[in-house]
Amino acid sequence: MSRRAIFAARTNWTLEENAYTRALRRHRQSGRKILDLTASNPTTCGFHYDESAILGALQNAAALHYDPQSKGLLSARAAVVEYYREIGAQVDPERLILTTGTSEAYSFLFRLVCEPRDEVLVAHPSYPLFDFLASIHDVKLRPFPLVYDHGWQIDFSELEKCVGAWTRAILLVHPNNPTGNFVSAAEAEKLNALCAQHSLALVVDEVFLDYRLPGRETRGAIHGTFARNSAALTFVLSGLSKISALPQMKVGWIAASGPENLVRDAVARIEVIADTYLSLSAPIQHAVPTLLAQRKTLQPRLISRVASNLRNLDAQLANQSLVSRLELDGGWYAVLRVPAVQSDEDLAIELLDRCSVAVHPGHFYEFSGEGFLVVSLLPPSGQFEEGARRLLAHVNAR
Ligand SMILES: Cc1ncc(COP(=O)(O)O)c(C=O)c1O
Repeated sequence: MSRRAIFAARTNWTLEENAYTRALRRHRQSGRKILDLTASNPTTCGFHYDESAILGALQNAAALHYDPQSKGLLSARAAVVEYYREIGAQVDPERLILTTGTSEAYSFLFRLVCEPRDEVLVAHPSYPLFDFLASIHDVKLRPFPLVYDHGWQIDFSELEKCVGAWTRAILLVHPNNPTGNFVSAAEAEKLNALCAQHSLALVVDEVFLDYRLPGRETRGAIHGTFARNSAALTFVLSGLSKISALPQMKVGWIAASGPENLVRDAVARIEVIADTYLSLSAPIQHAVPTLLAQRKTLQPRLISRVASNLRNLDAQLANQSLVSRLELDGGWYAVLRVPAVQSDEDLAIELLDRCSVAVHPGHFYEFSGEGFLVVSLLPPSGQFEEGARRLLAHVNAR
């Protein structure tokens, strides 16, 4: 009799490092200084944080009392409601559920809408963690393409072909990571129609929503939140990780909107999932108002860094011919188009080995072919400028 393996098949991941990660580890171990153009952890990119406000908020005496609230403490949810009010959306605190970050929010939503093997449609290129989040919950991610033509758009003919009997939700990142495009009003209308027609949930990850580049007015782009979307059952995901540049605090949320009866049902069910874990600690929940308020000083600093690195990149790009930058409207990343004369991974390893510059190869984000590199726009300006200089010199000399 054949015996069942001790581990569930969903954990049969390839755990070996890929060639790029191996090269990066080798480099770090050798002690050679790397100009890291993948750096996107805001807490290590040289930004000034208000230490006393942040640490003080974590010492609230109210946290000595345990008040288990499945959606999260009302005082914390009220701060999130105020955030939405300031960006022009009215959100009902009873339709907000706090989570320990966006990843947990995905977990709750996948449990809410998917039976094992059901499918969630996701735009490619996109954030690499989605594969793991889905597979851990026995959900199949089915990609549909974003196409690039002076900006990124959803390929609706492909998206429609992907909708089938197993489809439960469409997942979008607004603005997308790493392509930096916002969903347009016309796209939102079509998405709503598709979701309503096929009884699908619309999941919109808005962690980068506030990081819109100054002066960009892409035709038709919606820059606001989907938290007021009413035509389809909609779950907006966000959190402190990007909104307040505080990923270590592990606070995220789900804001539900859409047809009244569906939203009521959805929230009641998510509440049971959340109540089963009650995963946020009391000190962090009491700190949410202060931590969320940090966005007012931190976002301008991050946006100014992103904009100045982008200006610097563009100035350097203007002095060479082989590398170009794709259009972006927001977020923390830029996508570079390079001649596809070798695999992106080989090029990224070469950049590490010969120039001590770290970049992400496009395939990390599921670009459709070779010839794409992704750079973060958050590194300190000196590091970014020198890293970009070496990158462009190398690609132009190949
Ligand atoms: C699109 C997207 N969603 C979510 C996250 C992470 O969010 P959290 O730290 O709240 O889990 C990231 C992090 O880079 C991201 O790019």
